[in-house]
Amino acid sequence: MEAATVAAALGFLLLAGVGGSSVDEAREETVVRALVVASGAAASRGQLPPASSPGDAHPSPHSNNGLELQKTESLRRNWWPSSPIEISSLPPVTYSTPASTCRYRYYQNVCTQSYSFVWWDWARWEKEIDWMALNGINLALAWNGQEAIWQRVYLALGLTESEINEYFTGPAFLAWGRMGNLHTWGGPLSRFWHLKQIYLQHRILDRMRSFGMIPVLPAFAGHVPKALTRVFPQMNVTRLSSWGHFNCSYSCPYLLAPEDPMFPLIGSLFLWELIKEFGTNHIYGADTFNEMQPPSSQPSYLAAITTAVYEAMIAADPDAVWLLQGWLFQHQPEFWGPDQVKAVLRAVPLGRLLVLDLFAENQPVYSRTDSFYGQPFIWCMLHNFGGNHGLFGSLEAVNQGPRAARLYPNSTMVGTGIAPEGIGQNEVVYTLMTELGWRKDPVPDLVAWVTGFADRRYGLSQEDAKEAWKLLLRSVYNCSGKACVGHNRSPLVKRPSLKINTTVWYNRSDVFEALLLLLKAAPNLTTSLAFRYDLVDITRQAIQEMVSLYYEEVKISYRKKDLILLLQAGGILAYELLPVLDEVLATDKRFLLGSWLEQARAMAVNETEAQFYEQNSLYQLTLWGPEGNILDYANKQLAGLVEDYYAPRWRLFLETLAGSLAQSIPFKQKEFDKNVFQLEKSFVLSKKRYSSQPQGDTVDLTKKVFLKYYPRVVNGSL
Ligand SMILES: *[C@@H]1O[C@H](CO)[C@@H](O)[C@H](O)[C@H]1NC(C)=O
Ligand SMILES: *[C@@H]1O[C@H](CO)[C@@H](O)[C@H](O)[C@H]1NC(C)=O
Ligand SMILES: *[C@@H]1O[C@H](CO)[C@@H](O)[C@H](O)[C@H]1NC(C)=O
Ligand SMILES: *[C@@H]1O[C@H](CO)[C@@H](O)[C@H](O)[C@H]1NC(C)=O
Ligand SMILES: *[C@@H]1O[C@H](CO)[C@@H](O)[C@H](O)[C@H]1NC(C)=O
Ligand SMILES: *[C@@H]1O[C@H](CO)[C@@H](O)[C@H](O)[C@H]1NC(C)=O
Ligand SMILES: *[C@@H]1O[C@H](CO)[C@@H](O)[C@H](O)[C@H]1NC(C)=O
Ligand SMILES: *[C@@H]1O[C@H](CO)[C@@H](O)[C@H](O)[C@H]1NC(C)=O
Repeated sequence: MEAATVAAALGFLLLAGVGGSSVDEAREETVVRALVVASGAAASRGQLPPASSPGDAHPSPHSNNGLELQKTESLRRNWWPSSPIEISSLPPVTYSTPASTCRYRYYQNVCTQSYSFVWWDWARWEKEIDWMALNGINLALAWNGQEAIWQRVYLALGLTESEINEYFTGPAFLAWGRMGNLHTWGGPLSRFWHLKQIYLQHRILDRMRSFGMIPVLPAFAGHVPKALTRVFPQMNVTRLSSWGHFNCSYSCPYLLAPEDPMFPLIGSLFLWELIKEFGTNHIYGADTFNEMQPPSSQPSYLAAITTAVYEAMIAADPDAVWLLQGWLFQHQPEFWGPDQVKAVLRAVPLGRLLVLDLFAENQPVYSRTDSFYGQPFIWCMLHNFGGNHGLFGSLEAVNQGPRAARLYPNSTMVGTGIAPEGIGQNEVVYTLMTELGWRKDPVPDLVAWVTGFADRRYGLSQEDAKEAWKLLLRSVYNCSGKACVGHNRSPLVKRPSLKINTTVWYNRSDVFEALLLLLKAAPNLTTSLAFRYDLVDITRQAIQEMVSLYYEEVKISYRKKDLILLLQAGGILAYELLPVLDEVLATDKRFLLGSWLEQARAMAVNETEAQFYEQNSLYQLTLWGPEGNILDYANKQLAGLVEDYYAPRWRLFLETLAGSLAQSIPFKQKEFDKNVFQLEKSFVLSKKRYSSQPQGDTVDLTKKVFLKYYPRVVNGSL
């Protein structure tokens, strides 16, 4: 504590001269205003928020004023652009005591910021925060603009602007920069980026606070830019190992030793500057070892570094509570034995660490750590990795999970949460989970619940639509066992090889039958935007199933050396199914690569920046790193992406296989990988513009696709 106090004093002195000065603030505000007006965004919506001061907006920990709206069926609002609310009149709102059984209803994953929110403007944020409010979310990350604050701190510590620019990742990869996994990749961040993020963060915070939500701000986790060792050669740092197949040009962060006097200094400098800019609600997120192997498994080391992070927090805010993603414990269970977990959890006073049991529907940690050794935790459903499309969910496990955790002996559960890496898919799963935040017990009858969901979703009760949802519930949404991991592993979205496992946990014919039922219900539902979304999505899934079936044919024909069969099955896969999928997706704005990239462009101040942001986005969707380091992890099914990325590589694969059969030479995966990488890379670098206007009619086209392929599926005569 002594060191922290000294550091605190020092910090004030250092910071007095930089970014936080009123001259800078005024200049910044002017620039942001100019930007906002220039881009037309939100210009009419008013003023920049006043800079809030520390101490603003402290809701008492036990009030959730503003969130006590009784949830009525008609007010429950669908998520994302999939279905804007369509109600003619609002029902009378009655205030009642909250029915929720837990203190917190949490939302977000550090990764959601990059996979889904990265290019959002205020208008989109506003919608999201409305959605959060209507579903009773009262604890959520508010992590925009933190790099701008770090920039001030690093400048104060003596780094040059170019050293700082070299450190930050690009916008689409900030989540992993923030967790210490990456640096540099996809960067730099422009000055305009920082300004816009500060502006956004103010608006986000104002709105969250006005609803009584607790925004979680970031804190220092111990990772530092290499350049700091130039300024402070005595600094004791350890270089961690690489992450995600990235080399040390982009990974292997420097971690500060817990005993180093710079630890509390940097940590509290950052928090002061952050609080000065944004105020605080006293809950802070920091992840030191997220998917990163600590330099030592000694409990004393783990306790020391945890203590260092916490003490730097309380040096700046004595009321600080630390929100920790519990992902590390289940990600590397071989490292995190009971002694290691205990060392981390017990290093912080009980009640001052709030742990997210991040993937609790699948691999809960509370049950193997005696409920986090007494620290409070939030039962979170993670559900989705990388924002993949693909119908998927384990509704039974989700439904049962929170109660089981609450009833666990000496449970310290204090909330429920949703922590998807990416949103914009499988809305039914999130609807169930947000409802569970308000229930003491599971939904008694999931079949009845899902038919009710169909009624509410489409605004009209239709028998066929309800039957369709029952089939989806018992198939794609009733995942259990090893096959269900939340990634889309369909050959459609993977780099071709002869070794893709196409096993699924459900009977594929349920997807086709569900589509048939939805098409039957279509005449009465065509005006529902949610229905049209589902029609595209389920047709997309049906085509994905067919791609798997034809892929298996390709494998068999190659093994049998049957060139004719190979060309037939492969031809359908690459020259029929993928083009028709692209066409179906193109009928809906919500499935266009063009719409996706339009958001990125809109964030830019000029054409150079627009192309740079587009490229960041395209890398994330495909190669992820410069060499396909985390290839296709964040795959999506979007018109444009299917036609120009997935289809060409399947065509190359089939040509290569056919060539190898024709010439009787074995297929060489390594050589193919090298060739296909050139296609993948040229897609990312192509600078092609994609339309953000839909084309064609969803209902007509999905019907045609169905009529063409359904008989083959039923006859098993693909
Ligand atoms: C890391 O990979 C990048 C891009 O592939 C390359 O340019 C760089 O030289 C590599 N760095 C190291 C340290 O190997
Ligand atoms: C540097 O930090 C490590 C890890 O905390 C510690 O073991 C080591 O003794 C420190 N070295 C010095 C020179 O202080
Ligand atoms: C629950 O806590 C009580 C009091 O600390 C303790 O006596 C008891 O053994 C605990 N039960 C379990 C199952 O851990
Ligand atoms: C989901 O599958 C389990 C078996 O794994 C079964 O007991 C349960 O009834 C199924 N639920 C639904 C809604 O079909
Ligand atoms: C394919 O995946 C399923 C489900 O995960 C698994 O049971 C099966 O063993 C896998 N097949 C092969 C050949 O690896
Ligand atoms: C899948 O469902 C279809 C149609 O309901 C049925 O004919 C088939 O036997 C089922 N397959 C399996 C493996 O259960
Ligand atoms: C449309 O809805 C009406 C009223 O629910 C129903 O009578 C009719 O059968 C529906 N039409 C179709 C094609 O489902
Ligand atoms: C475009 O914006 C970037 C910042 O991202 C800036 O460096 C560059 O100078 C600008 N170019 C033009 C032509 O204004």
